[in-house]
Amino acid sequence: MSMYREQILDHYKNPRNRGRLDDFTHYSGKVSNPLCGDEVEVWVQMSIVNCQLSNIVAIGFDGHGCAICIASASLLTEWAKEKEIQEVEQMTSETVTDLLGISLTPVRLKCALLVRDALREALSRGVIM
Ligand code: FES
Repeated sequence: MSMYREQILDHYKNPRNRGRLDDFTHYSGKVSNPLCGDEVEVWVQMSIVNCQLSNIVAIGFDGHGCAICIASASLLTEWAKEKEIQEVEQMTSETVTDLLGISLTPVRLKCALLVRDALREALSRGVIM
């Protein structure tokens, strides 16, 4: 358990993939947690093969939130890199909680899932060229 807590602290203090992408195909807009007003936004660059969306080649996030929120954003964006769109579309709340490796109260779960909701929103908005 303490290994996971250390990992969460590390991703909170040194978040991976933080920052807007200059080149992106998908953008979430600002997605907020209704319980606290914290916000996360996600940019995705997806490769397109034979006119079909293929893999995530780059991903970035920005926003403000608690340690669980920022660590989840860092961990999920790392997880999503290079994945095919079908796999990313099938992510569930367990995808995020498995990455965090700790059990969460319902309020903390909302914090953890903010980045998943932002990534889903980005993919649902279609391609921006
Ligand atoms: Fe706002 Fe966690 S308290 S996202």
